Amino acid sequence: MSQVARAPGRVNLIGDHTDYTGGLVLPMAIDRHTTILFERSDDVSATSSNFDGQVRFDLPVVDASAVQPAWGRYIAGVAGAMNERNMTPRGFTGAVATTVPIGGGLSSSAALEVAAALAFGIDADVATIAAVCRRAEHLATNVPCGIMDQLASLSGVKDHALLIDCHSLDVTPIRIPDSLAVWVVEISSRTLDGSEYPARVAQCAVAEREIGPLRMADVQSANRIVDPVVRARARHVVTENERVRQFAAALMAGDFRAAGQLMIASHASLRDDFATSTTQMDAAVEHYSQVPGVYGVRMTGGGFGGCIVVLADDDAAIDAAINGMRVHAADGASLTTPLS
Ligand code: GLA
Repeated sequence: MSQVARAPGRVNLIGDHTDYTGGLVLPMAIDRHTTILFERSDDVSATSSNFDGQVRFDLPVVDASAVQPAWGRYIAGVAGAMNERNMTPRGFTGAVATTVPIGGGLSSSAALEVAAALAFGIDADVATIAAVCRRAEHLATNVPCGIMDQLASLSGVKDHALLIDCHSLDVTPIRIPDSLAVWVVEISSRTLDGSEYPARVAQCAVAEREIGPLRMADVQSANRIVDPVVRARARHVVTENERVRQFAAALMAGDFRAAGQLMIASHASLRDDFATSTTQMDAAVEHYSQVPGVYGVRMTGGGFGGCIVVLADDDAAIDAAINGMRVHAADGASLTTPLS
């Protein structure tokens, strides 16, 4: 009997590079999905409609990062991460397909990991599944990512963004009013593998050794950090956490102008203090921030390329001015048995 594991990508409205210090993020799962149509089998074999080659490995998996072709590493990483927790992944023969743009900063890898976890028959609460899939990313690529993408893919709620406390893992859905539109504009395709992402994670760890957990720090203590680079990184994280809080409040109060200004401030902080933007992203943010009806725009996700996100009025005239992909907040991952 075949089954379908389905997991969405995500776009982050605000709160970047805060998750791996247990901070606040506000992503939404989007109406672009990765699916795995599968049947049970003893080992694992998968094909992809987006990539060449067939992935094959036996369970338990030995080295996820060596699996070929490379897209299969995310699947193998999930099996490896389940094994580390003494969970037993069940094998499958599957066909993978995705509508999540790959390498665009919309968490195509997290969507594949979450879909794979469901196909492996994982039986755990959402926070544990997200932690397994986060670990899978580490095993597959060595990128020390946080938990935002996997948790957003699992916990999505239609028409809602998700305020996530990455320390407690509490998820609070926040309704996105019908009068708003969320757009994603791809600036460049990239992966975080080989980027400065691990360096940023390390710099935040250095800051925490000096002033304690960044999620509890204030900007005055961040500004006392001696090393100027570490100081700037810490200042971004501390101010970004505060912006997420204020953005959630503004969205709930219907104050879209205030929400948009916070997105613009978030971009400036990622550009100046966290140095994860690019000149093309800066130019696109500048351009779209001038478009009437646009409230806010910023780089989204890990950065170093990828996407910007635009929050605007839902209005045909504005649609015409945005050369991007309109996305809608979608429900989280699911496992279903198709009717035959
Ligand atoms: C990537 C990581 C996330 C998060 C963002 C930046 O998407 O996978 O864990 O750190 O970058 O906010």
